Amino acid sequence: MFIQESYPLKHLNTFGMDVTARYYAGITSRGDLPDIFNDPDFRAKPHLVLGGGSNLLFRDDYNGTVLHMGLRGKKVVAEDQKNVFLEVAAGEPWDELVAFCVDNGWGGLENLSLIPGQAGSSPIQNIGAYGVELRDHFYSLEAWCKESGRIRTFNRSACRFAYRNSFFKQEGKNKYIILSVTFNLDKNPVIRTDYGGLQKELESMGCSSPDIADVRAAVCRIRESKLPDPEITGNAGSFFKNPVVPEHTYRRLKEAHPGIVAFPENSGMKLAAGWLIDQAGWKGYRAGDAGVHSKQALVLINHGNATGTDILNLAGRIRDSVKERFGVMLEPEVNIV
Ligand code: FAD
Ligand code: EPU
Repeated sequence: MFIQESYPLKHLNTFGMDVTARYYAGITSRGDLPDIFNDPDFRAKPHLVLGGGSNLLFRDDYNGTVLHMGLRGKKVVAEDQKNVFLEVAAGEPWDELVAFCVDNGWGGLENLSLIPGQAGSSPIQNIGAYGVELRDHFYSLEAWCKESGRIRTFNRSACRFAYRNSFFKQEGKNKYIILSVTFNLDKNPVIRTDYGGLQKELESMGCSSPDIADVRAAVCRIRESKLPDPEITGNAGSFFKNPVVPEHTYRRLKEAHPGIVAFPENSGMKLAAGWLIDQAGWKGYRAGDAGVHSKQALVLINHGNATGTDILNLAGRIRDSVKERFGVMLEPEVNIV
């Protein structure tokens, strides 16, 4: 395994933070992991597993080793009349996987089109969009335990998926390296168009009985219309999670702010943080090169040369103003490094 020093990370994080890693190694085979973890020099320093870098904010240069996930490959491991079980190596780009499934007529992931990042990171925050979450088509994953050096298989219940959450963000945080994920896909796809503007977008495309390729195209169109392309403008998608509040808190907020946008979520209501931030007057705001996207207030952006600290300072001001105005505390979705 080849370890490089002072490695630039600007093109490996979608916020486009111009930082370097003290050491960098690409993981291209499972055998790389025992090799590097058995090295006492490596173990003495911090390390970070990096996927597509689309849910991270680097505050500064990384003073440790970045392990960049590069495991590739996908294979059908089982199938029956209804389902295909597809095992996907962690380093496969997420949206290429979605396109591959759609091309094969396997349904399930199409509403999750155009989310950046890798397949291996998808279970960590249980990615979700347009009425579907990763857990809906997740079967199992294999992860390498850093402590024991053994590979463990996690089924769906072991992953404890919740909205933007899983075992890997809680008790399992930083303890495992995900190696592969197996998806349970439908040979007879169920079309889900009930979220937000999806149905309307399909109608505007002239699709009265859409298939999964139409759903993918519609999701891509909506996303392109409101989310900034990280290749052009640095960002990590939603900076904060949508806060989930008890029903009684929601009723009080709704009385004071009749336009508030919310959706039922388990025992409470999930508030649209974008609406709260927008109403607090931040949409399109800019302080130096740190800003709030003009089409989606939940997305913080790097106009060019913002630092992680600039973004965090802006996020702190937004969080304080939303707390003051609505009494609701926003929590970051993005992992701060
Ligand atoms: P990274 O950012 O590289 O890593 C995220 C975390 O996972 C880090 O803590 C990292 O250490 C850890 N990690 C990564 N790979 C592994 C591994 N193999 N094993 C163990 N730990 C690992 N998210 C949504 O849920 N829905 C959306 O609609 C959505 N839209 C987005 C739109 C844009 C424009 C952008 C930029 C981001 C969006 N995101 C969305 C957020 C992001 O794309 C997802 O969270 C994605 O799953 C992150 O994948 P990644 O490979 O880039 O992870
Ligand atoms: N809204 C505003 N102003 C804004 C933004 C949003 O008023 O500036 C209101 C609108 O009423 C809109 C509602 O908020 O209808 C919800 O907005 P949107 O449909 O864009 O979804 P979101 O709740 O802001 C979530 C996810 C996104 C995901 C979309 C689509 C979170 C934190 N974010 O955003 O995921 O793509 O739904 O399903 O749950 C991400 O996690 O990085 C991400 C982009």
